[in-house]
Amino acid sequence: MSYGPQIREQVSLKDLNTMAIAVKAEQFVDIENADQLVQALDIAREQQVETLVLGGGSNLVFAGNFEGLVLHIAIRGRRWEQVTDDTAVLALAAGENWHDAVLYAARSGYRGIENLALIPGTAGAAPVQNIGAYGVELCDTLESVTALDWDSRHVVTLSAEHCQFAYRDSFFKRNPGRYIILEIRLRLSRTAPLKLGYRDLQDYLSDADAEKLSPLDVAEAVMAVRRRKLPDPETLPNTGSFFKNPVIDQAQFEQLQKCFPDVVFYPLTDGVKLAAAWLIDQAGWKGFRNARVGIHNRQALVLINHSQGTGQDVLALAEDVRESVREKFGVELEVEPGIVGAR
Ligand code: EPU
Repeated sequence: MSYGPQIREQVSLKDLNTMAIAVKAEQFVDIENADQLVQALDIAREQQVETLVLGGGSNLVFAGNFEGLVLHIAIRGRRWEQVTDDTAVLALAAGENWHDAVLYAARSGYRGIENLALIPGTAGAAPVQNIGAYGVELCDTLESVTALDWDSRHVVTLSAEHCQFAYRDSFFKRNPGRYIILEIRLRLSRTAPLKLGYRDLQDYLSDADAEKLSPLDVAEAVMAVRRRKLPDPETLPNTGSFFKNPVIDQAQFEQLQKCFPDVVFYPLTDGVKLAAAWLIDQAGWKGFRNARVGIHNRQALVLINHSQGTGQDVLALAEDVRESVREKFGVELEVEPGIVGAR
């Protein structure tokens, strides 16, 4: 028997966003399957209320209460498909915990997502910002996404190409509300080379024999490296990198490098990507804190909610950081997490 969606009112979202901002949803529903999702969306449409799709709440900042219906995606399940001697496709329902899926794949001997260990959030949220770390992005393995198309009201399967992935960006991020992701499918391999080139990871594994490493060894190394620098949201509420690493053109870069020869950068085919953490650090923000919010003392790209900070506190600090980086370096920082709720 299938149950309709159980909508609750005035639900606290504090434990459902990793920044631990104490806001409420006017209406809230746990979604366990596609039927419940369609029914809940019909109710929202009938009542003319806004909807918000919530996964692990690890990449958004609540500016205020959400005056509408929060659809908390709790669809579970994972399975292997198209298993050959080398590759297999891992299908993950949107509500699966991302890190658990990484460990599951690595323990099964499959390679491709081990560098993405410990990224908070759900599988369904992973394509939205095309999660990435230690030289790997989700789009490197993503085969397809199954989603409810809210325009046609049909469940559709989108190829990776349709998702228009870019650095921390996708069609889903640019067009919120069009698709609600139900399942993702990743093509993994037993033999693909491990990606050990990112500096922090290379340093950590410098004594290891690269030939003998398993994907689980790499996942564990990534976990150790992340734990050294990135705060655990359970103890220091945060949303990971708060800004994207900015891309500037070659001419602006040359000017900047003249004034700041130590600037940390990554050359691209078109322009230069700067380490936002370096810019923020050099502007003197690392370890800064006021009564409620601050900047992490080991990674300047991470904003922390130290003590009952509101979304407004977080956004005001982010604005101060942007302004000082703009003044010192002439570079614009773009906020990475989504900002939702009443301002
Ligand atoms: N740096 C500083 N000060 C700091 C931290 C870093 O000067 O406080 C400099 C260092 O020179 C360092 C460089 O900045 O070499 C880059 O730092 P890091 O390697 O920590 O990476 P990042 O560019 O700051 C990105 C991702 C992270 C991801 C790491 C590792 C973005 C916005 N962030 O950070 O992703 O874990 O690389 O791959 O691309 C996230 O998106 O939430 C996230 C944590």
